[in-house]
Amino acid sequence: MVKIVGIAGSLRTDSYSQVALRLAAQRVSALGAEVEILDLREMNLPFCDGGDEYPDYPDVEKLRKAFHDADGLILVTPEYHGSISGVLKNALDLMSFDQLAGKVAGMISILGGQSNSNALNDLRVIMRWVHSWVIPEQIAIGQAWKAFDQDGKLLDEKLSQRFDQFAQSLVDNTQKLRQ
Ligand SMILES: Cc1cc2nc3c(=O)[nH]c(=O)nc-3n(C[C@H](O)[C@H](O)[C@H](O)COP(=O)(O)O)c2cc1C
Repeated sequence: MVKIVGIAGSLRTDSYSQVALRLAAQRVSALGAEVEILDLREMNLPFCDGGDEYPDYPDVEKLRKAFHDADGLILVTPEYHGSISGVLKNALDLMSFDQLAGKVAGMISILGGQSNSNALNDLRVIMRWVHSWVIPEQIAIGQAWKAFDQDGKLLDEKLSQRFDQFAQSLVDNTQKLRQ
């Protein structure tokens, strides 16, 4: 079975991006995939300085190894100023083709305002640049502050179904590409 790793680019305590990541991970896991979530709030990562080695930051190796060993990726970003968050971009900048090329990626964005695809479009360009294969199914959750109940469950059934389609496509396409 395929291995999927997921990260969300928000360090906020009650982050909806982290809630959405867990939800997506549950759906992917229900399809039989092995899923690992790396919570960037619990990792100590430096800003990418353009170098390869970060001996004072063992979490860089942890991040790189998890992505290297994975077949597929779940990337969740809050929309910040019309694009992806610096937290997510920095995590990706700490990696390169060794960890990202040839991986199938599914993307989700979380917005305070109305749903749009700005961050997702930018993230798609970034992932193309590192030779990842991004699935066409994507999810943008607008007004995220009213999308979930207290247990992190989605209130909108249609949106919940979208997570199922997203998970199915991610697992199916990851399997296909690995063969
Ligand atoms: C620096 C910053 C920029 C933001 N820019 C946007 C934006 O462009 N569009 C939008 O809909 N919401 C924007 N927001 C709101 C966040 O997308 C919203 O609070 C979201 O829930 C953050 O994700 P999180 O819950 O995972 O922390 C911004 C928030 C911050 C802190």
